[in-house]
Order: sequence, then structure tokens, then C-alpha cells
Amino acid sequence: MGTFLTVSELPVAGRKVLLRSDLNVPLRNGEVADDFRLRSALPAINLLREKGAQVILCSHLGRPKGCVLDELRMAPVAARLSELGGYPVAYATDTVGTDAARLIEQARPGEVVLLENTRFHPGETSNDSDYASELAEWADFFVLDAFGTAHRAHASTVGVPDRLRSAAGPLMEREIEMFRLLLEDPPRPFTVLLGGAKISDKLPLIRSLLPKVDAMLIGGGMCFSLLATEGYEVGDSMVEPDCFNSLHDLLRSTEADRLVLPSDVVTAPELDATAPPSVVNISAIQEEAWGLDIGPATAKQFAAVIGGSRSVFWNGPMGLFEWENYQAGTRTIAAALAGSPALSVVGGGDSVAAIRLFGQENGIDHLSTGGGAGLKMLEGQTLPAIEALERWA
Ligand code: 3PG
Repeated sequence: MGTFLTVSELPVAGRKVLLRSDLNVPLRNGEVADDFRLRSALPAINLLREKGAQVILCSHLGRPKGCVLDELRMAPVAARLSELGGYPVAYATDTVGTDAARLIEQARPGEVVLLENTRFHPGETSNDSDYASELAEWADFFVLDAFGTAHRAHASTVGVPDRLRSAAGPLMEREIEMFRLLLEDPPRPFTVLLGGAKISDKLPLIRSLLPKVDAMLIGGGMCFSLLATEGYEVGDSMVEPDCFNSLHDLLRSTEADRLVLPSDVVTAPELDATAPPSVVNISAIQEEAWGLDIGPATAKQFAAVIGGSRSVFWNGPMGLFEWENYQAGTRTIAAALAGSPALSVVGGGDSVAAIRLFGQENGIDHLSTGGGAGLKMLEGQTLPAIEALERWA
């Protein structure tokens, strides 16, 4: 795998730098509901400010499909970034129009201008060459720090680095370093813990990682498709029958003994936050029950495997942790991971949110800002934005 330039290798003092971060955060009532990605973006912004660059920051927000949607404007992001950073963040209401031109013209060294949502422009997701050129014209250099979007070949992630001398930002560097370590030389035993709702999303990852891990623990909604494939009654729990054939093959593969499935689960009689939870063995799931968490015996077993590991990657919660009655499994795993001396990497919005909800972030070595991007890297895929950076090395 290749290498890339870093910010220290670009003479950015007094120059304009286009910084592509992943500021794609959840919004609620017009405000940033979770600022984890903004906090993670700050080191790159601060580094460029300290070096005396004029920082022209850009990102996508949501999926507006080339249309201007007021509810996906970057104004709340600019406001929250400014609060977190403690300096003004000027907000341009376009990316390549007159407002951006005016604010960029006014910006002095150390100042920050945040452009509007790049996905308001139809040329962003199609990697349109005119749009990429217009964005590139704003700056002397490009810094890519948007690890969470590195698996998208868009104008602001691969089009601009084709046109401007480009370096990786500090977040990008750290993310790539951690994922490459897990992929190429993880401290052993190496355990992967997967959860979340949909097994279809994670099947390619499971297939490519299983031969490389010492143990793969599966919880969350996705375990029910595996249990159903094994012939267990799973009641009304979420299953994806389209995956059963592939799962059947997986369960009969030579590495299947590395897969660890739950031995007990927590079920609800209906899909309701206040529904009374029942702990049941996997062979006793009722016909109309919903499996919403791993059970305590499973949580204990998973925690023991984590305790005996030297590196662990976790993606996807063990259950519906937003509901108090069904959060014990995820809470136990978060505590086990934070308390273990293993190198711990957590990726995906929900797992990172769970770690933060349970106050365990200090015990985790790396909370990744990438969901899909991290999974694609662990699948062994080359991410287009990283490839674009490598051309400058
Ligand atoms: C993410 O949230 O995973 C990234 O910001 C990429 O967003 P996307 O899936 O809409 O491309």
C-alpha cells in the first residue's frame, strides 16, 4: 500500500488551502445533534490556522441529490464549529458562486470559511470535471481529512486532488494508520465484533475478514439471520432471507469455528421501548417475540473473548441500545472493550454513539469517524480518495 503527503510537507503559510472534511453530522431541530465528527475535524482546521493558511473548508451533509434543501444547509455546522473552535467560521451560502468568492477574498491568514453543502451541486456525486475545477480554483493546495467519505469518488474527494497538490489531514493519517494496522499486522489474538441491523451490509466484510481473525463475535439484529439459517426459531426478529444461502455456506466454511454466535438473547413481546424484556436461550425464542439484545450469558462470553484479545475491532451495536430495556448487551461490551488492554478500534456511527453514551470513550484507542469507509478498508478495498492522495507522494 502506498503513502501520501502530510500537511507539514505543504508550504501553506499565507496560502489558500481547500480542506475537505467529513462534517456529515446528524441534525435535530436545525441544530447539530451529535458533534463527534466536528470535534474530530478540528485538529486539521487548527493545524492549518496555526500555520497561517486561509482555510476554505468544505463537506457534504446528508444526501440532497444535487438540489438545494434548506434543512441540509451548513449554517448549523458553521455555528457549532465556531463554538467548538473558539473562533469565527464564516459561512458561504454556495460552494462555487459569488458568496464563496466574496468570503474567500476577504479571508486573512488563519481565518476559516465554510462552503455550503457540496452535494447541493449535481456535479459533486458525479465527479463532474467542471465542478472539481471550480472548487480547485479557490485554493493553492488541497488537504483531504474526510476519512468517512474516502470511499466515495466525488468531485470534492477525488476530482480536486487530481488538480491541486494534495496532502492528508491528521485525522485521515490516523484513521489510515489504524485500519492498515488491523488489516496487515494486528496484535494477536485479533477479535472482530460485529452487530447492527443488517447482515447483508456486512457479508462481504465477514467473508474477507474471517480468514484473518482469531475470533468473530456476532450480535445485534444481524445475528438472527445466522440463527435462522442454523434452524433456530427467531420469532419476529429481523431476518434477511435473501442472505440465507450465503450464510449457510459461511457457516459450513473451514473458518466457521471462528464465528461466535449468541447463546442467549433478550426478547420483547412487541416492538416498543417499554415492552418487558425476557432473557431466553436461543433455542427457546417464542414465535411472536422480537430479539432486541444479546443476553447476559452471551455478553459475558463476548467480554471474556475481548479480555483475552490483543486487538479488537467493533462495528455495530449488540442490540437496540437507545431503549433502556435493551441496552445491557451493548453496555457490557462497551465496558469490556474500554477496560481491556487490547488495541481497540470502534467504527460506525451507532457503535461510537454507544461508547460515548456509556461514557467509555477514554478507554478506546481509536474511535473512527468512518462507518462505510472503515468497513471497505477492512474488506481490503482501495478507497478512491486515498488513491487520489497517493498520486502526490
Ligand atoms: C457517512 O456518513 O458514512 C459519510 O459521511 C458518507 O456519507 P454517504 O454514505 O451519504 O456517502
